[in-house]
Amino acid sequence: MISLHVNIDHVATIRQARRGSEPDPLAAAALVELAGAQGVTVHLREDRRHIIDRDVRLLRETIQTVMNLEMAVTEEMVELALKTQPEVVTLVPERREEVTTEGGLEVVRAPELLRTSIARLQEQGIRVSLFIDPTIDQIEASHASGATDIELHTGSYANARGAAVEQEYERLHAAAVRAHELGLQVNAGHGLNYQNTRRICALPHVHELNIGHSIISRAVFTGLSSAVRDMLDLIRDATPTA
Ligand code: PXP
Repeated sequence: MISLHVNIDHVATIRQARRGSEPDPLAAAALVELAGAQGVTVHLREDRRHIIDRDVRLLRETIQTVMNLEMAVTEEMVELALKTQPEVVTLVPERREEVTTEGGLEVVRAPELLRTSIARLQEQGIRVSLFIDPTIDQIEASHASGATDIELHTGSYANARGAAVEQEYERLHAAAVRAHELGLQVNAGHGLNYQNTRRICALPHVHELNIGHSIISRAVFTGLSSAVRDMLDLIRDATPTA
């Protein structure tokens, strides 16, 4: 079966809206693991807009499955990953102004820092995955960079409508086949939800999926009724009888 790594950044986004302590992504990670997910994914962005350093430090102590740390290719992040020792690092492009990771990593014209960062992380036993657009040149460049894994960016497929859906699916299919031929582990993620994930599972050679926003969004609604009932019970208990 394909593994599911749940991205819990979106829990941290709700916490950071108040700069408070809840909801704590540590609790989310524990529940995700209890529910059977094979891994927990967090993206430490340079602006710390959701996941913060304290989360990464404590999650490293509490995650029992696989910790996948998504991060930009910078000296600061590589140092932090070497200190944290996640099982997997996924290297992603990062621009401050973007709402979420918008495109894949540019591996074809990558600076030397990418290659040296991959080597440094691997020397410490950390698996390195590159989050890339599903094109053959990015796949081949990823292989040449020394990475063992790629994560196919499924965002264009997820956003496509009409005839474009099939075109995007075909690109993912061809990319997965080429990556496997080169011996790369094929992972995928971004924008996957309860409607479009089934077809992604049917792609050849997919090992792991990273899914966040749709799962946390669904959890808001599946949990909302009982959360309201709990508050009503509390108010009923606390209201003085006339
Ligand atoms: N994979 C990568 C590399 C990402 O940056 C993200 C979003 O943080 C995801 C997967 C998960 O995307 P989504 O939240 O849309 O499921």
